[in-house]
Amino acid sequence: MVARESRHVTIAPSLLAADFGRLREEVSAIEAAGADWLHLDIMDGHFVPNISYGPTVLAALRKHTKLPFDVHLMIAPVDVYLDAFIDAGADHISLHPEAGPHLHRSLQHIRKAGKKAGVVLNPATAPESITWALDLIDIVLVMSVNPGFGGQGFLTSQLPKIAQLRRMIDAADHPVALAVDGGITAVTAPLALAAGADTLIAGTSVFRAADYAAAIAELRGGA
Ligand code: DX5
Ligand code: ZN
Repeated sequence: MVARESRHVTIAPSLLAADFGRLREEVSAIEAAGADWLHLDIMDGHFVPNISYGPTVLAALRKHTKLPFDVHLMIAPVDVYLDAFIDAGADHISLHPEAGPHLHRSLQHIRKAGKKAGVVLNPATAPESITWALDLIDIVLVMSVNPGFGGQGFLTSQLPKIAQLRRMIDAADHPVALAVDGGITAVTAPLALAAGADTLIAGTSVFRAADYAAAIAELRGGA
């Protein structure tokens, strides 16, 4: 196991908190500021009580950045839309087990397309739901808020779950990113990292900051 202090921290700003009237500039600015991935929250007004944007927005932005597109699908049924996001330029596709009847099959589909596959765990979803699909999983994403909105408070109740998932992932025979999404700030990022996360998704604390590079560096560990 890699010592926690030396683990690389991946920062994935969430476009949800960007200025939607200036998306192209926002994406260029976040890339220049040192982001590792661009997190794209897809909401359908049905699986979650909010609507964001769809694959046409991804396709339009794809040619303006080299950042990996980390797509978080909050839509149900999810399976019928996987190809639309793959074709639009997604590099990673993460989905909730509750969004379709056959999580294993959905992950197989994403992997077969050559993309990284992720599973998102809502605050009340048990970590064990990944156990029998771990061989197909590249990213485990722990929701530290209920999905649907940016700017919510971090749920510290998720910290023991992150620690449990760290142990499960360390026992896997392939690399799996452990991401935390929701309420990540300079105060809560160290809590998530200490619990075992290696990837931080942050909307408000990055895109609403005056200096994107400073905000990203602060989340990464200040140095
Ligand atoms: C919530 C989304 C998050 C959200 C995070 O459903 O999955 O990615 O954009 O926003 P903040 O960082 O503001 O909590
Ligand atoms: Zn998200």
